[in-house]
Amino acid sequence: MTTISTLSPDRLPAFLAAMPKAELHIHIEGSLEPELIFALAQRNGVQIPYASVEELRRAYAFSNLQSFLDIYYAGASVLLKEQDFFDMAWAYLLRAKADNVVHAEIFFDPQTHTARGVAMETVVNGLHRACLQAEAELGVSAALILCFLRHLSEEEAFETLEQALPFRDKFIGVGLDSSEVGHPPEKFAKVFARCRALGLHLVAHAGEEGPPAYVWTALDLLKVERIDHGVQSSKDPALMRRLAQDKIALTVCPLSNLKLCVFPKLADHNIGLLLDAGLVATVNSDDPAYFGGYMNENFLQTFAATGLNAAQAYQLAKNSFDASFIAASHKRKYIDLLDASVAAFV
Ligand code: ADE
Ligand code: ZN
Repeated sequence: MTTISTLSPDRLPAFLAAMPKAELHIHIEGSLEPELIFALAQRNGVQIPYASVEELRRAYAFSNLQSFLDIYYAGASVLLKEQDFFDMAWAYLLRAKADNVVHAEIFFDPQTHTARGVAMETVVNGLHRACLQAEAELGVSAALILCFLRHLSEEEAFETLEQALPFRDKFIGVGLDSSEVGHPPEKFAKVFARCRALGLHLVAHAGEEGPPAYVWTALDLLKVERIDHGVQSSKDPALMRRLAQDKIALTVCPLSNLKLCVFPKLADHNIGLLLDAGLVATVNSDDPAYFGGYMNENFLQTFAATGLNAAQAYQLAKNSFDASFIAASHKRKYIDLLDASVAAFV
């Protein structure tokens, strides 16, 4: 039995940082720090329209999702070689380890790269090699989820799937990301049905900026197992009941929501409300290089702003393992590790 509720409030920040956790919503291209963008631009002879790291970082002032995506896709243009994809993922996995992330399910956007003439093989092999090395050298388990860009057509998603199938053993599932409003989940019903038949795990971004209707269709038409973001669900009580009843996890990204103006202030974030309604909410970083924080920064700032408590910290970490796509025996091992970290703190 856990005794986390006896943790003294002044020890909560240290517990948040130390507790083992899984990250389930990280776009690997969104972990590309300005310093690495400049280093790769130089290594590959790619021109970028910023004079310095500082100038690039100053451009990170976003008003909504699209204003971010424009800069995010420009940043990814420096990635050309397998080693570039490895270096990006390895840098993320080292940061994850420092934040006591013991398991990561990592999104990648192959269409951002194949559209520039980079081979699927280059992308997948570089990222996958970093995942293998993380397991061997850091003790961090990591798996890849291929995302389709929803501003492109379903036909292009099918072509991307075909290109990726020779590497089927190197990714565990598919997701749906990019510009949400105007590109509802139903646009991708056929390709998700095909992925389901192939035995791939299914997730989709829904209810980040888009309406609760997009969360319903992601569930009912795409048959996803998790919803990425999903924070707009709180506008629809029937949807909240459905998410709670079916234990559909939401991979919530508080600092992302703040930086993309989904909530005016972090104190206004609805993560506490989602937990109180019995939803399987988790905390994640989304695009940490752009939104000002990796996992622990998301936990620390969110708890400081909203007043969430130690029992909710434990619940969020436990949810991250329960909602992950790892085998039940591994989930048990990670939750035992979490309980041991509680015992060391109280
Ligand atoms: N791609 C990278 N980050 C994203 C986000 N927050 N929403 C949709 N697509 C994304
Ligand atoms: Zn995302």
